[in-house]
Amino acid sequence: MTIFRNVMVTGANQGIGWQLMKDLLPISGRVIATVRTSNAELEAMKGKVENLFVVQYDATAYDSYDQVVEKVASITAGEGLDLLINNAGIYIRDSLEKVNPKDMLTNIEVNAVAPLVLTKALLPQLKASASSGQKTIVANISSQMGSIDDNKSGGSYAYRSSKAAQNMISKSLSVDLAPSKIIILALHPGWLQMDMGT
Ligand SMILES: NC(=O)c1ccc[n+]([C@@H]2O[C@H](COP(=O)([O-])OP(=O)(O)OC[C@H]3O[C@@H](n4cnc5c(N)ncnc54)[C@H](OP(=O)(O)O)[C@@H]3O)[C@@H](O)[C@H]2O)c1
Repeated sequence: MTIFRNVMVTGANQGIGWQLMKDLLPISGRVIATVRTSNAELEAMKGKVENLFVVQYDATAYDSYDQVVEKVASITAGEGLDLLINNAGIYIRDSLEKVNPKDMLTNIEVNAVAPLVLTKALLPQLKASASSGQKTIVANISSQMGSIDDNKSGGSYAYRSSKAAQNMISKSLSVDLAPSKIIILALHPGWLQMDMGT
């Protein structure tokens, strides 16, 4: 059963993005997996899995976003993008003793600024999907650690702030894009044993 015609997952070479990409393949027309660095299994899948498209994406290389959008437009062939999962992210571990401006800015840039700029760049693709009557979703992979209410253990200044900023961006996007019928989700995936988890 095809639920989405065209979906895109950022950070799809490992961890949550890798699993999401594999789970989406059977229920999607086309899956665009963006990677900064590929892996052997993904390279092997490239030619064999005909609805998988691998696109190079480095979150902070803003100059390359035009190229990413061009590739997405060419892959989706006028149908637009039905589901964008902003999954790529980093967790810079810190404490009150270790926290510093560089780490704060890096974590906020990768986890909050880049997903916003990418979503903005892909708006024509998302709007093309929504205006065709398809359910169109941007899912931002957030974290419970971005919750102000849930913060009982302190620390993790860079990561917590990046996800709190991402949550606020998700809320503003949901308001601004409601007239275009684009749904914005902020999702906490749970605590998982990935490079980032424990
Ligand atoms: N794991 C957990 O328990 C957990 C809990 C809550 C939320 N999350 C969120 O879930 C998402 C995925 O996390 P994960 O656990 O799967 O982590 P992971 O295994 O470390 O994977 C992170 C992914 O993000 C990519 N990435 C990082 N920096 C990038 C950049 N500058 N440009 C492009 N891609 C970049 C990585 O690519 P490279 O391999 O090239 O570095 C990788 O594909 C993150 O947003 C994270 O905050 C995770």
